[in-house]
Amino acid sequence: MRKIFGISKTKKEISSFDTPNSHILITGKSGTGKTYTILNLIVQAVANNIPVVIIDTGNSFANNQIPVNVKSFMKDKLLIYDVADKPLPINPFFIGNIEGKKNQKIIEMANRISDILKGCLKLGMQQRNEVYESIVYVFNSNDSITFQKVFDRLEEMKKSPAKTAAEKLLPLITGVSFSDKNDSLDYVLYGNPKVHIFQLSRLSDEVKKIVSDIILFSLMDKLRQNGSIEKNFVLVLDELRNINCGNSAPLTKILTEGRKFGVECICATQFIRSKNTDFISILEQAATRVFFKPNDSEIKLVAKHLSNILREDWKSILKTMPRGYCIIDRGLIADCKEDMAVKVYKNEEILNK
Ligand SMILES: Nc1ncnc2c1ncn2[C@@H]1O[C@H](COP(=O)(O)OP(=O)(O)OP(=O)(O)O)[C@@H](O)[C@H]1O
Ligand SMILES: [Mg+2]
Repeated sequence: MRKIFGISKTKKEISSFDTPNSHILITGKSGTGKTYTILNLIVQAVANNIPVVIIDTGNSFANNQIPVNVKSFMKDKLLIYDVADKPLPINPFFIGNIEGKKNQKIIEMANRISDILKGCLKLGMQQRNEVYESIVYVFNSNDSITFQKVFDRLEEMKKSPAKTAAEKLLPLITGVSFSDKNDSLDYVLYGNPKVHIFQLSRLSDEVKKIVSDIILFSLMDKLRQNGSIEKNFVLVLDELRNINCGNSAPLTKILTEGRKFGVECICATQFIRSKNTDFISILEQAATRVFFKPNDSEIKLVAKHLSNILREDWKSILKTMPRGYCIIDRGLIADCKEDMAVKVYKNEEILNK
């Protein structure tokens, strides 16, 4: 779906690039207007009856952060799942349709969860393998499986790697609980279109990554079974630094395969490249790239991305951009420089459209 951002210097209304792979990446330093712009895009999805899933790791979409006029427009469409209050409507240990292949499905699930935990909690290989063994053991010897039971099993094992793995798992056990129902995501994707906010802001950084990986994997799994290019939905990730973006991460799969299932990702980040992060590949996946005033350290990088030949011109434009103004690169050769500089509409201008 084509979404409007705002108006260019030549008074042209500028919207996102409308292709099946219409992911949007928004970057810029703090306070420039990224979240504000995302809210405008969400409003347009809601107006078109498209479901929206927001994974909020930075408290941008907390109940008291959403402007009153936007909230009253969404009314009963707004659903917030706060991990601190009740179980998330997702079963991380779901093994899908098990006809004839139960053992293989258990191995896949245990490997998936152990690998997510290894990556996010920095488990060593032995610790990861103890976690894997515990998941398989608990799954096979209980009616239901939870991270608490996996933790208890690790403690029982009395081996040093298992004990250390249990200690590292503790913030996950104390911070989050999950549903044990397997169909809980169906209504998120295929019920009456709503704005679903998974509120993870109160978790520690590593637990945010674990939980968002679990949500994104479950979404992708559901989409693979039931998604189609016609059933659109918008996925919002406002603070990419809190999301696992590695090569085999669920987000990477969603960005590359999601278009077949109608997913449009809207991602935002303050930095494209910093010590621990590199979102260049995400930048390349996005059909529409939105640059607010960058941090000083990234002005050169963004200017070069916009045009290697005209980078000095772009550098001076980027340096002086006020809040609420951005450069929108839709990869169109025909885009003239004037039409790439956009003043983002105010919330009320979008609401009145
Ligand atoms: N187009 C706009 N029109 C009017 N006000 C705006 C506009 N864009 C941003 N603002 C205001 O500027 C402030 C900062 O915007 P916003 O929260 O979107 O920044 P951000 O880029 O998401 O920052 P951070 O990286 O810290 O999350 C907000 O108070 C917002 O209301
Ligand atoms: Mg923000």
